[in-house]
Amino acid sequence: MNDHDNPTESNNKVPKGMAAFFVLCIVFVVGYVVLYTPAISGWSYYKIFEKEMADAQAVASSEGEGEKQSYSGDEAAIAEGAEIYASSCAVCHKADGTGGIGSDLTAELKFGATPEDIYESVADGREGGMPPFKQQLSETKILKVIAFMETLRK
Ligand code: HEC
Repeated sequence: MNDHDNPTESNNKVPKGMAAFFVLCIVFVVGYVVLYTPAISGWSYYKIFEKEMADAQAVASSEGEGEKQSYSGDEAAIAEGAEIYASSCAVCHKADGTGGIGSDLTAELKFGATPEDIYESVADGREGGMPPFKQQLSETKILKVIAFMETLRK
């Protein structure tokens, strides 16, 4: 076809939707460039990377090397520890910890009284008749019982 004498094309208006979309695209691009150009906004992948590394470091160090959490003085944990003690330990050590079949937990402990020693006594048991509890009680539960035991020892 020859529209040489009849240039209708230039009279067509851009449809409204298209124009709006075009403007939006420009706004997006300008916004994007501003936001992600380090020289303008200060944004940098290095900063994000460093922040992630720092967070990971914090998590790693709070998990600690073999360092167990202590529920010492935590009332909710002690209350839970008391229940576990009543159902698992009181038969042998008596409700107040003064001992019966099991030894007196309020007196000097022969296997040691540091949280680590007590944890070992409870988790792995002791040869003189103290059964190991690590199959029955999770680490958290044992730590709660230990927190409760501390209240018996005062
Ligand atoms: C079947 C009875 C029995 C049960 C149940 C029992 N114990 Fe014992 N426990 C003993 C005996 C017996 C000993 C003494 C072991 C020894 O002297 O070698 C002991 C020792 C201990 C010791 C070490 C004491 C010391 O002098 O160092 C701790 C701590 C302890 N028990 C805590 C617990 C806790 C906490 C529970 C409950 C989760 C518990 N026991 C449940 C019988 C029991």
